[in-house]
Amino acid sequence: MNITKDIRYVGVNDHEIDLFEGLYDVPNGMAYNSYAIVDDKVAVMDTVDWNFGEAWLQNLEAALEGREPDYLIVQHMEPDHSANIVYFMEAYPRAAVVASAKAFGMMQGFFGTDFENRRIVVKEGDTLSLGRHTLRFFAAPMVHWPEVIVTYDEADKVLFTADAFGKFGALDVREDWAGEARRYYFGIVGKYGAQAQSLLKKAAKLDIQIICSLHGPVLKENLETYLSLYDTWSSYRAESEGAVVAYASIYGNTKRAAERLAEKLRANGCQSVALYDLARCDMAQAVADAFRFDRLVLASSTYNADVFPPMKTFIERLTERGFQGRTVALIENGAWAPMAAKVMRAMLEGCKNIAFAENAVKLNCAMNEASEAQIDALAKELTEK
Ligand code: FEO
Repeated sequence: MNITKDIRYVGVNDHEIDLFEGLYDVPNGMAYNSYAIVDDKVAVMDTVDWNFGEAWLQNLEAALEGREPDYLIVQHMEPDHSANIVYFMEAYPRAAVVASAKAFGMMQGFFGTDFENRRIVVKEGDTLSLGRHTLRFFAAPMVHWPEVIVTYDEADKVLFTADAFGKFGALDVREDWAGEARRYYFGIVGKYGAQAQSLLKKAAKLDIQIICSLHGPVLKENLETYLSLYDTWSSYRAESEGAVVAYASIYGNTKRAAERLAEKLRANGCQSVALYDLARCDMAQAVADAFRFDRLVLASSTYNADVFPPMKTFIERLTERGFQGRTVALIENGAWAPMAAKVMRAMLEGCKNIAFAENAVKLNCAMNEASEAQIDALAKELTEK
């Protein structure tokens, strides 16, 4: 696949993977992207996951039509992109590795070598000429590891963005970009909003016609849409109006309260209400939606004088990603000593700009008239503004 006259796609699709990073469901697989820039000199952008080294080198050989690579540019050392560096260097003994100093430190850690006599260390603003193409490197620390560089091709105005603008899903499956890009962003990069903002500021100074990420499709049209979504996500602003109602229920009584609240929110005109059973749902999807919408309702049973474990995990996933700037409402249940609301509130204490709803809902075992009235009052409060 030619991206421009000189830039060729040599990545692979992975439909064998069960969990990406050992954690994330990827029902449509995963793509590990890699690109070859064919000029007077030939540069290859990153390698692919360990299981696909042979397929990748075959793609590369076919794309190069008899040429040999001069450079392997390593933008990111996470093994989904770096696993085949040694394999490549053995296959192409005249090639040099181009990467940041931190990346070479990681190569020593992963492979026991930093390719001492075959390396070019680059830093912010450095360039590498391939002939017609001049590549300019920018540091993008923590998007999503500290060694990351992104690469701008001044000739074809392509920004190679490492993990940024990536998504879950293999490239041979058609699906909406935003859903799986949002779930990917908040799962993988979400903690590093400030660093993603720094990268966007650098990108804003460049004339970018094409974005080549290490995951997901090459982006060629409506780039403002993708850039704008990344700006929203990385600045922790809500993307749209709506509510997540996330519950952790043992026997179904807390679940019924959450369902009643979701129904009432919809009846009151809230267009987007996402209801999640935290013990059974894809937690990464619930996290992505909690960042997507402006209101979040947490409903939990009390358990061991604490919250029910799936709720604890959910709140931890939010707080470790810098959850902030949302309206949060709490529903608690407890048969003898309800503690869930107190615990949930305390867990969110360090989050910036959280507005807690005034109406609290307290269940004593199961819903009754009093708690139903509390739920209805909460639904009214959450839909009044
Ligand atoms: Fe796709 Fe952070 O590696």
